[in-house]
Amino acid sequence: MKKSILFVCLGNICRSPAAEAVMRQKIEAAGLADQISVDSAGTYGGHAGEAPDGRMRRAAANRGYRLNHAARRITSDDFERFDLIVVMDNANYDDVYDRAPSPEATEKIHTLAEFFQKSDTDHIPDPYYGGADGFERVLDLLEDGTQGLLEFLQL
Ligand code: 4NP
Repeated sequence: MKKSILFVCLGNICRSPAAEAVMRQKIEAAGLADQISVDSAGTYGGHAGEAPDGRMRRAAANRGYRLNHAARRITSDDFERFDLIVVMDNANYDDVYDRAPSPEATEKIHTLAEFFQKSDTDHIPDPYYGGADGFERVLDLLEDGTQGLLEFLQL
């Protein structure tokens, strides 16, 4: 049965649209595009409708990922539509948990860090107010976590 995954961060312009693009590339490389779908959303709606942050787009493009997403805020429908809701940090976790419409819906929420295979941290740090190295760090962590997530989904 087809699985659907929603990646969630705060603004939906840096981490989660990049997570979506990195995961999509892994799904396509594994020939699983008809079995796993991905999308992203934010807990904060202030950037709704915007393209991903230019710094994130450039850092991702240097690694061969194309980010084409329009930012949107998570909705209560998302808890129905998606099988897994994968958040970037613990603040996202708490915000998404508080919006979950039912106890069953809270069981869909995971942190991407749960799927890390190499990285030794419990979150993807927010790069918005930092320098270029923060975006590279985000991509390193996303590549690790999405690989673990892909393997988890194939078990
Ligand atoms: P993101 O980064 O949650 O990875 O998309 C941020 C984007 C915008 C803001 C904060 C973080 N902001 O405060 O507007």
